[in-house]
Amino acid sequence: MAEQTESEKERVLIFDTTLRDGEQSPGATMSLSEKIEIAMLLDEMGVDIVEAGFPIASEGDFRAVAEISKLLENATVCGLARSSLADIDRAAEALKSARSRRIHTFISTSPLHMEFKLQMKPEEVIEAIHRSVQRARKYTDDVQWSPEDGTRTEHDFLCRAVETAIKAGARTINIPDTVGYTAPEESASIIRMLKERVPGIDRVVISTHCHNDLGMAVANSLAAVSAGARQIECTINGLGERAGNAALEEVVMAMRVRGDILPFRTFVNTKKILQASRLVSSATGFPVQYNKAIVGKNAFAHEAGIHQDGMLKHSSTYEIMRPEDVGIAESNLVLGKHSGRAALRAKLEQLGYNIGDNRLKVIFARFKDLADRKKEVFFEDLIALMQTTPRDADDAHLRIKSLCVACGSESPRRADIVLEVGGDELEATAQGDGPVDAAFNAINALFPHEAKLKLYQVQAVTEGTDAQATVSVRLEENGRMVVGQSSDTDTVYASAKAYVSALNNLVQRRTKSAPAAASASAG
Ligand code: KIV
Ligand code: ZN
Repeated sequence: MAEQTESEKERVLIFDTTLRDGEQSPGATMSLSEKIEIAMLLDEMGVDIVEAGFPIASEGDFRAVAEISKLLENATVCGLARSSLADIDRAAEALKSARSRRIHTFISTSPLHMEFKLQMKPEEVIEAIHRSVQRARKYTDDVQWSPEDGTRTEHDFLCRAVETAIKAGARTINIPDTVGYTAPEESASIIRMLKERVPGIDRVVISTHCHNDLGMAVANSLAAVSAGARQIECTINGLGERAGNAALEEVVMAMRVRGDILPFRTFVNTKKILQASRLVSSATGFPVQYNKAIVGKNAFAHEAGIHQDGMLKHSSTYEIMRPEDVGIAESNLVLGKHSGRAALRAKLEQLGYNIGDNRLKVIFARFKDLADRKKEVFFEDLIALMQTTPRDADDAHLRIKSLCVACGSESPRRADIVLEVGGDELEATAQGDGPVDAAFNAINALFPHEAKLKLYQVQAVTEGTDAQATVSVRLEENGRMVVGQSSDTDTVYASAKAYVSALNNLVQRRTKSAPAAASASAG
């Protein structure tokens, strides 16, 4: 049978939960400004629904949902709520400025969860479903309901629960594989079973929400779509609780590349995928695995001689999609030290960054400095520059004025630092196990704090000994998590800058964040 044209294909809605389920990934906390930047990019990319947070969980989540609600122009903004009326009211409050808003309410339905987590009888759960969906409908027509641990729920009870939610007014029924337990055939059969058995199911959109504990989240989501689901819940880079959620870039590209057997379309502009991936990686400090499908550094690299030979003869021999379709610039070699500001702006635009004159000035200065030290600047270098240049560098509490380290086979390894702390220039010398440890100790001597170092990670941006290193640092203070990132051709300097950037974020969080509210969690 001939492949359908784009307009003949059925539409699948893309529901992004990077800012909610993604942020529940241990250590993936994002600041308000990072969440806003990600939400704006998702909106620009053509994602249909952005789940911006879980408003009752914390003041931070509430603010994120409220601010994102004011800003998104195309996507529906969604807030998560348990079945309690207080949760739903709080979500509605956070969403009140959204042009298009959705309340997503959920309750567990599996025997295990009902007995041990909720300690509720099935009848009580059915009542809670009815009450919560009805309450949400007071605020918006667009109500989504999810049976948490849906794939481990008894089918008769699942049908009853879904029917109750539909009768109470839910427009989207999402079936979560909360613990990443299902497999493609089962995922599809649950959707088919609901379509056959639940009265009114044809009036709602069926959605799928798969976790990746067995590495099958994307396959399970696509199987659900083949069986009739028309919304996929997913995250950029597959971020999410434990092993993560289905990766947005993978489900979208699978439907695009295999339109012959997955005849579905989305409105996602795939050329923005790489930018979104790098943005989320930089905001969370979670690096993208090199061989990650679609967005990994090696996803389009051809190392083996036989593959390279085939590629030179015809790219389709080993490439099933074009790198430029996911936002990887055609030529990796971008600019050199003689390139001017206009060329830099043009390359950044090619990569999806449209920046104002002030920011261009800052980025151009960093680019020139880099190009002086590194012969060739690649597109990965530009992405690293964009993502490790803070927007509000002028207000930074701490700033490194100079750093000099002594390292090698002989002790002591030492760091001499000049650091601006709240406008005062201070100097310190410290020793450590190595140059990075010494540099961090010198910073601590000038800016003592109680925060614990939770992650220190170095990644080379490109190949070669002159490559930039991107360093991620994560710190925790009284349950607050902050990240800092920086890049430089000097790994020790990049490390010190990343550490200082995390400390600056900590200073900001101390002043801005309100005490945490009710503790809430969802799968
Ligand atoms: O995994 C899960 O069950 C969830 C629900 C809140 C949809 O994230
Ligand atoms: Zn989940």
